[in-house]
Amino acid sequence: MYNNVTIFDHPLIQHKLSILRDKRTSSKDFRALVSEIATLMCYEATRDLPLEEIEIETPICKMTGKHISGKKLAVVPILRAGLGMVDGITNLVPSSRIGHIGLYRDEETLKPVEYYCKLPKDIGERDVFVVDPMLATGGSAIDAVSQIKLRGPRTIRFLCIIAAPEGIEAFTKAHPDVHVYCAALDERLNERGYIVPGLGDAGDRIFGTK
Ligand code: PRP
Ligand code: URA
Repeated sequence: MYNNVTIFDHPLIQHKLSILRDKRTSSKDFRALVSEIATLMCYEATRDLPLEEIEIETPICKMTGKHISGKKLAVVPILRAGLGMVDGITNLVPSSRIGHIGLYRDEETLKPVEYYCKLPKDIGERDVFVVDPMLATGGSAIDAVSQIKLRGPRTIRFLCIIAAPEGIEAFTKAHPDVHVYCAALDERLNERGYIVPGLGDAGDRIFGTK
């Protein structure tokens, strides 16, 4: 379909996603599941990070091992909901730097409004994972990635949990060079710009604000 979009069909991800979608799932469980899914997605999405050889010494002898080359990741959550995915990634890659981009969707126009942007100084030397559980119209992710591109990172990947076809279409057109990873590609957006069937408002469910 799209050669720069990967949908993870791993049974653990799909199982956790079904619980996440369920409207009876509490905020506490919702937060834990978002984090666990982010860890599983990070494991898959880091599969092609470049390695280099290093000399190490085991208790038995010297050998040549491998480690990830250069500086590690920068993780950039789109506030608020993207915050829920950060721990899940830094658990696997503890030396990641973390940036923040604050965007909210205007409820009338559905256009993103930026209110905060703070990125790691050395982001130009890092691979960047932009994270947000939801890709709906794509406006927020498109804007966030455009901001990050101004700082010239090595590569950018976008990780979301649920994507709408409209968001994938718009995002891949705006940023064909950025690989998108998601756990599900849903049916459509409704008239209020919510993903159907989706999981509702990710920020409100993570932070218990509704
Ligand atoms: C949600 C979500 C995305 C955005 C997706 O955030 O977390 O950032 O909507 O929609 P889009 O693809 O149409 O731009 P929201 O604006 O509700 O802000 P919040 O995370 O602060 O609740
Ligand atoms: N943002 C959300 O949190 N959920 C949606 O379904 C769409 C945008």
